[in-house]
Amino acid sequence: MLSEDAVREIEAARSEEESLRHALLTALRVVQRERRQVGSAEIAYIADLLDLSPAVVQGVARFYDQITQTPTGQHVLSLCRGISCYLCGADDVAAEVMEVLAVGRGGTTADGQFTLRLVECIGDCDHAPAAMVDDRFIGPVEGGAIRALTRAEGGSAWHRS
Ligand code: FES
Repeated sequence: MLSEDAVREIEAARSEEESLRHALLTALRVVQRERRQVGSAEIAYIADLLDLSPAVVQGVARFYDQITQTPTGQHVLSLCRGISCYLCGADDVAAEVMEVLAVGRGGTTADGQFTLRLVECIGDCDHAPAAMVDDRFIGPVEGGAIRALTRAEGGSAWHRS
């Protein structure tokens, strides 16, 4: 189900982390990244790998917005709508991004490249309006910048300079 690297990452977390709960969070993050969803098959897989009950894994998985039951696009674009970002024009950015990508909140582009999430403070208020692509901070962003970045091949331009 997972690449050898992903399994190694989870097993390393299990042996190094102080608690199994931390290893579970690592496993959920790794599985979401690699499989782009944590559905029932993934929950059973994680439970078996960490010797936990599926109910425990599912309970934790369903708590976090970032862990999805349905597949995301190749990249997840998260636009912050917290107060700092709101004051710096986050709503305008979100509107333009939705137009550029032709998706609504939580939607995935027709080509499967991007899933758009509108989120609360992501802890990058200094770069408002802030955003993330997958695990990378890319703010401050403007709609025009998103337009250019979404055209970048394979998302390779998703880096803050
Ligand atoms: S309010 Fe947007 S990063 Fe904090």
